[in-house]
Amino acid sequence: MDLDTSGIIGQSTSLRDVFRILAKVAPTDSTVLVTGESGTGKELLVRALHSNSQRRSMPFVPINCGAIPKELLESELFGHEKGAFTHAIRSRPGRFELADGGTIFLDEIGEMDLTLQVKILRVLQEKEIERVGGAGVKKVDVRIVAATNRDLEREVAAGRFREDLYYRLNVIPLHLPALRERGGDILVLAEHFMRRFCERKGRRCLTLAPDTRKVLAAYSWPGNVRELENFMERLSILADDDVVPPADLPRKILDEVGDIVSLPEPTPPDPLPVAAGAASGGVPAGFSWPTITDLRDKGMNLKDFLDTVEERLLDEALTMAEGVKNQAAEILGIKRTTLIEKLKKKRSDS
Ligand SMILES: Nc1ncnc2c1ncn2[C@@H]1O[C@H](COP(=O)(O)OP(=O)(O)OP(=O)(O)O)[C@@H](O)[C@H]1O
Ligand SMILES: [Mg+2]
Repeated sequence: MDLDTSGIIGQSTSLRDVFRILAKVAPTDSTVLVTGESGTGKELLVRALHSNSQRRSMPFVPINCGAIPKELLESELFGHEKGAFTHAIRSRPGRFELADGGTIFLDEIGEMDLTLQVKILRVLQEKEIERVGGAGVKKVDVRIVAATNRDLEREVAAGRFREDLYYRLNVIPLHLPALRERGGDILVLAEHFMRRFCERKGRRCLTLAPDTRKVLAAYSWPGNVRELENFMERLSILADDDVVPPADLPRKILDEVGDIVSLPEPTPPDPLPVAAGAASGGVPAGFSWPTITDLRDKGMNLKDFLDTVEERLLDEALTMAEGVKNQAAEILGIKRTTLIEKLKKKRSDS
């Protein structure tokens, strides 16, 4: 089965390493622990994990363990019986039961308190749950995927996270590198977001001046992809001209990078892997001719498939052309008007 990483943009070696593990682990039922700084795309990755798994047609149930008050979290996860506590006027299934057959995503697991950690451990070991105030246990068939931006080993050392649970969760660790460690992906993502926001707002695609590109590539992006995404949205609204000069960037970013003249040229994006046969007109790596079984597996019909292929190539051409439509059309060997029509159609579909 080919890996579907749609929506996760980037071609850096460090991200491709993540995709490689993802491709191996997705079809299994193993527990996965995703780590990475805030905004690195952990949730996006977990969703890709589920949609590439055998469980893809079954529920995907996320729960943010850090956002729910701890008194409520247990009944959210495991459900409760009528009368279990003051406001339990009727019985309710928890997220584990709702996820039966599918995947539960325990987001921000590092925030969960120790008493609840024991109960999660039990689900992992016994594959059964007990509702709050319930009289017995129920079997559930759920794949558990957890994520955290905390250093769980440190949490274990500090006595805030159970060591046994840590090992149980960390069967397959998937670490998302910080954006600043992804080299050329910073600008690939910046241009992708810029194009998306401009298309959404129906304004001409903005381009980044060479010095602006240098600054964005040199900045440390502590909020990672989320920060870059929000920042591009802001630029797409506030920029006055079609070419964004460094002066349009906020003080915070300019102050951090210092003197623009002494900044290095941005790292170019890592080249996409090409199979041995490709040079002689073969098929690129990661590409295999789809069969009807593949389409059925993905729940796609012919049109869905062709649309996906077209969208990916349009995106790639626009990135190569830095958003210049004439050039992108030329790369694709189609007329500029045809390209614009396709983009318009794409926008109205999304
Ligand atoms: N590689 C990527 N390509 C495209 N969009 C991305 C990528 N990585 C992250 N994003 C976008 O960035 C935002 C943050 O991603 P996400 O919520 O998955 O991060 P997170 O690691 O779960 O963050 P947090 O720890 O704060 O919960 C989302 O809008 C997501 O769509
Ligand atoms: Mg998240």
